Amino acid sequence: MDHFSYNAEGRYCAEDVPLPRIADAVGTPFYCYSTATLLRHYQVFSASFAHAAPLVCFAVKANGSLAVLATLAQAGAGADVVSQGEILLARRAGVPASRIVFSGVGKTEAEMAFALEEGIFQFNVESEPELRALSAVASAKGATAAVAVRVNPDVASGTHAKIATGAKDTKFGVPMSEAPPLYALAAALPGIRVQGVSMHIGSQLTSLAPFAEAFSRLRMFVGTLRQAGHGIRTVDLGGGLGIPYHDEAPPLPEAYAQLVRREMDGIDAQLIFEPGRVLAGNAGILVTRVIYVKRTAGRKFIVVDAGMNDLIRPSLYEAHHDIVPVRKPEGGAAVEEADVVGPVCETGDIFAQARKLSLPAAGDLLAFRSAGAYGASMASTYNARLLPAEVMVRGSEFAVVKTRQSYEELFSRDRLPPWF
Ligand code: LLP
Repeated sequence: MDHFSYNAEGRYCAEDVPLPRIADAVGTPFYCYSTATLLRHYQVFSASFAHAAPLVCFAVKANGSLAVLATLAQAGAGADVVSQGEILLARRAGVPASRIVFSGVGKTEAEMAFALEEGIFQFNVESEPELRALSAVASAKGATAAVAVRVNPDVASGTHAKIATGAKDTKFGVPMSEAPPLYALAAALPGIRVQGVSMHIGSQLTSLAPFAEAFSRLRMFVGTLRQAGHGIRTVDLGGGLGIPYHDEAPPLPEAYAQLVRREMDGIDAQLIFEPGRVLAGNAGILVTRVIYVKRTAGRKFIVVDAGMNDLIRPSLYEAHHDIVPVRKPEGGAAVEEADVVGPVCETGDIFAQARKLSLPAAGDLLAFRSAGAYGASMASTYNARLLPAEVMVRGSEFAVVKTRQSYEELFSRDRLPPWF
């Protein structure tokens, strides 16, 4: 459930704020987040596990806006981070270091040192060379890194190939068969304390079956590790729960929680989750204005002022985002097929192809739904376009939580070489 809907006047609103009001104040395109939706998603997710008091670490990569992170941090969320930048962001947003887990296949020594200084809760280690590097960095500092090895359960997650991570031919994790010697090494290396085990099998999963298979393998694996004498105090089940973008029917958090309860019953470890999309995805939209309606022989193009640089998911993953007219069309308005495209000079700068909608006019506002995760966080300045503004709504209030980039900011890193 989300808090984006039409009001009595037929204007699409974020909570109680009509979007035209925000567009008038901040211009377009802009991302708009709903506090109530974000909190509701966090509460529904956490409450379904309440019995287990898990550590719910929001995957910062899904949305790194300070206000989003701070809203979740205030509600008690931790953070799953994949870079020094994300640690900094999470800390600035008020996430205690004791609630931060550090994932990723390419942590640099500098990043490890920084994370150790911050005192983060857990490193999810993805390879032997990484483990050795972490040991060296930690011992040089006289510190101890709490480690979980990210194991790869080799399951097909049934999601888009670019976001599936649980199969053995991806770069992620350590095959379960190769993990026991890595744990033995971890137990022997200085500066390392074995703390747990972790896993993440992919993103936008719309069925429970891959989770069920992966969790049951992981459960057995925890037994194997404990038999080998390793103290396994944390079990990190990753993120990946899908959301409805269009007509998918992903499992509800409660059904996912039931599965977790079944598979992890009596595990005697702190459960950790790393949800990104399921918390933020449907808590945000991207609002854009139609620049032109262009007709060619047999085709109609709705050219909008947002581009693939603002929201790359349709171009990169053929992802579907529902497109909602901000002014509700009159009852009986004709529905036509049109392509919704951005201004970027790429054939792939397409938000929707042959989408059925009531044709807007130049100047009209459209909202791309389900853009709160992997939207703003993946935006770029391609074509020298400015990063969009981000706005947060709470009830009848709204605030700009990230300013639209200025040209001055965009060009501020450029230098001419001395021979000019
Ligand atoms: N934990 C780890 C280690 C991850 O790699 C990810 C996502 C998550 C947690 C959070 O997964 P979520 O709950 O959001 O599914 N840009 C793509 C998604 C990439 C996901 C990468 N890893 C998209 O827009 O669909």
